[in-house]
Amino acid sequence: MNQARFPTIKTLEQFDFEFQPSVDRHVLRNLSGLAFVERGENVIFLGPPGVGKTHLSIALGVRACEAGHRVEFQTLDQLMTRLKKAREENRLDRTLKQLSYPKVLIVDEIGYLPLSRDEASLFFRLINRLYEKASMILTSNKSFADWGEVFGGTGDRHRHPGPAAAPCNHGQHQGRELPAQGKTPCRHAQEPPTGGQ
Ligand SMILES: Nc1ncnc2c1ncn2[C@@H]1O[C@H](COP(=O)(O)OP(=O)(O)OP(=O)(O)O)[C@@H](O)[C@H]1O
Ligand SMILES: [Mg+2]
Repeated sequence: MNQARFPTIKTLEQFDFEFQPSVDRHVLRNLSGLAFVERGENVIFLGPPGVGKTHLSIALGVRACEAGHRVEFQTLDQLMTRLKKAREENRLDRTLKQLSYPKVLIVDEIGYLPLSRDEASLFFRLINRLYEKASMILTSNKSFADWGEVFGGTGDRHRHPGPAAAPCNHGQHQGRELPAQGKTPCRHAQEPPTGGQ
């Protein structure tokens, strides 16, 4: 659990599904069975600030740890800093390899700051490393429609198919849970939770 670098420990038991009816508890129960980890699929939590995306990503990570999987948590910002530093120090390949050891890599806060094209291409090198070997749990306050801009694109994925298109495609054909995840979590929640912690 220490290796996972969770910023705090959150569990599914602490998550109040009554308070957050837009999160489908059956989907979460299904995910907590960790079949997605066995299959190397990805999970994405989308929604506005404060609705429990980080909570749920940690809670699934804790489950995976308990099941004996190696898990690592970081924000996209931390990940970028780490990758860029590694590249400057000529050890990018080793760092990409290290990041592919965990069976579950959680990348929190996608979309809070847009990535440059260069940063986006570093991120895609990582995604390629993990592809079908490890699962990613991603959280974002941006809808998929906006991911093109987040990943250094122009926002028009069809006319300028750059790396921006890649994470969506990976997720869509690999992550069977994804359509549900993309739609359900937290979309309608406006208020901060009052309890359940
Ligand atoms: N339904 C809920 N039940 C219990 N606690 C919740 C629930 N939703 C949110 N919380 C708690 O509220 C706080 C904010 O949630 P969290 O950090 O997961 O939000 P977030 O969606 O990641 O927001 P941001 O986009 O700002 O990162 C956390 O302490 C979390 O445990
Ligand atoms: Mg968060």
